[in-house]
Amino acid sequence: MQWTILGAGAVGSLFATHLLRIGQKVNLLDTRQAHRQQSCPMTLALLDSSSFTCELPCIGYQDLSQIGCLLVTTKVWQVIPALQPLVGGLPESCPVILLHNGMGTTEWLVEHFPHNPLLAGVTSCGALKKDSNHISHTGFGETWLGALNPAGEQWQALVPPLAEALGHAGWSEQISERQWRKLVVNAIINPLTAAYNQPNGVLLQHQHEVEALCQELHPLLLQQGFNESVAEWCDLVLQVVERTAQNYSSMQQDLAYQRKTEIDYITGYLLQQAEKQGLELPRHRALYLKVKVLESQHTTS
Ligand SMILES: NC(=O)c1ccc[n+]([C@@H]2O[C@H](COP(=O)([O-])OP(=O)(O)OC[C@H]3O[C@@H](n4cnc5c(N)ncnc54)[C@H](OP(=O)(O)O)[C@@H]3O)[C@@H](O)[C@H]2O)c1
Repeated sequence: MQWTILGAGAVGSLFATHLLRIGQKVNLLDTRQAHRQQSCPMTLALLDSSSFTCELPCIGYQDLSQIGCLLVTTKVWQVIPALQPLVGGLPESCPVILLHNGMGTTEWLVEHFPHNPLLAGVTSCGALKKDSNHISHTGFGETWLGALNPAGEQWQALVPPLAEALGHAGWSEQISERQWRKLVVNAIINPLTAAYNQPNGVLLQHQHEVEALCQELHPLLLQQGFNESVAEWCDLVLQVVERTAQNYSSMQQDLAYQRKTEIDYITGYLLQQAEKQGLELPRHRALYLKVKVLESQHTTS
């Protein structure tokens, strides 16, 4: 199997090095460049404190014959600009897997790559890229893949190498459900911790806010076909909070480092879905606006 990683940040470098470590063929694609010839040295720090050093071949968007199974690991707001140079050029045999937090890229993908096998992934692996040549696997997690179109259904064979590489991977017939569950958890933990500018554990002191946000989402979740009670959604969120109490959320980190956040595809996506159903989410909207203000403070200063 040839794997091509589009977006060699934390998650992309983690997947790339783990896959290479178990003998898979891997290259890194940068669609901001037409061609790339050099390779990128990378050292992976594994969870058992061992390390693995390798050279990852790099390619550009015109090196089409070298693109294999395309794993897209950019931030969600980078997905469409990163894939745009491949529209009309990517061989139809190449599967495309989207692996990001947030939702809202699938429709564009299906419209622009109608003949490719299309898949989505959800991962709870933790990764931290210390610099361009060092990646740390910071937390064991589950990775699930599922099809976004009928051609994607034929690609369940992608799962075993990922399972061997990462310690867990599975095939999901309900990948959209898994994406939604992660979306809900992210929509509560990310903006709240970003607003408090604290690690995730701070939410244990603000459980009433978590409950209120779950309560407000509940009618939308029922309309999406989820049967859980408000208390069950709260439990799901608080379990993640407890498990990751010492960690900073990606949104808190994005704001701390003055980077663009994924809020438009997390809370923003929920607000859009609610509006389509004629539902109001005032608490979520207030959090959305709070994060947008914080984000604009560093982009305008
Ligand atoms: N980090 C984690 O532990 C973790 C865990 C689970 C899920 N996630 C999710 O996974 C996604 C990726 O997160 P991340 O932490 O890995 O983000 P990240 O470190 O910012 O990685 C994204 C990478 O994509 C690169 N990129 C953007 N456009 C590109 C293009 N056209 N061609 C090639 N590369 C391009 C970026 O380069 P530049 O920096 O130069 O723009 C960056 O290196 C996010 O949705 C995140 O929420 C992350």
